[in-house]
Amino acid sequence: MKEQSVGQAGAIGIFDSGYGGLTILSEIRALLPAYDYIYLGDNARAPYGNRSYDSVYAFTLEAVEWFFAQGCQLVILACNTASAKALRSIQQINLPTLGSGKRVLGVIRPTAESLTGLSASNHIAILGTEGTIQSHSYEMEIEKLHPQLTVTGEACPMWVPLVENREYDKPGADYFVKQHISHLFERDPLIDTIILGCTHYPLLMNKIRQYLPDNVKVIAQGKYVAASLKDYLQRHPEIAQQCTRQGTVQYYTTETPEKFNLQASLFLNEQIDARKTTLEKKL
Ligand code: DGL
Repeated sequence: MKEQSVGQAGAIGIFDSGYGGLTILSEIRALLPAYDYIYLGDNARAPYGNRSYDSVYAFTLEAVEWFFAQGCQLVILACNTASAKALRSIQQINLPTLGSGKRVLGVIRPTAESLTGLSASNHIAILGTEGTIQSHSYEMEIEKLHPQLTVTGEACPMWVPLVENREYDKPGADYFVKQHISHLFERDPLIDTIILGCTHYPLLMNKIRQYLPDNVKVIAQGKYVAASLKDYLQRHPEIAQQCTRQGTVQYYTTETPEKFNLQASLFLNEQIDARKTTLEKKL
């Protein structure tokens, strides 16, 4: 792993395979604007969604080590696929040797925790990548917290490429959105709440709503993850004290910064100036 640049020591690290984690970063910054953040998109190796457990684990661990080398004490995996396939192993196997006091958190548990009272029918759906859906991570978390809920998981493997290639608001996206929404309701017509279990999917929100009955809620997870982080920092002052607060954000990508700047600025509605870094593991 090459260190090409040094970020803001004490910043909170936000990681995604590509642009999707920006939907989480936006909500976190809105709720916790004082902290410093470093965002890393592993665009060169995205998408992660259909990669093996070994690949997602190795790539995510490499990214976590990169954040720690930048001085981050706390890293949020703003990627459901990485949270589903790598978080537990990193927490249990790697964190004990990666430095005391460092923390890595994911997005699945905070999302599962937030489901209280959302569904009247008690039938909900999780949309996610193949990796997230096949891991059954959502079902396992939800079963512990809300055993009354019937959960249908639907993998939507084309949706991340639509977002990464900025096709999410183009007519071509309609086919793939309609396909999965129709399939979902064939599988369970009682669904009244849909959780977007992939951080890329909020970009497809308008298209998703077009193909849904009005009574069905669609939930993006960013607000829940942000609220959970705020709560975590309040409950763990020893971690919060290690996080610097100058309100800065730095962006890094493993692809070309020019492309990242153009795409990310569209997602964030602001101009950004990303830097390139390199993550080198190949599987
Ligand atoms: N944003 C990632 C997630 O939440 C997308 C994964 C991918 O790269 O396929 O799962």
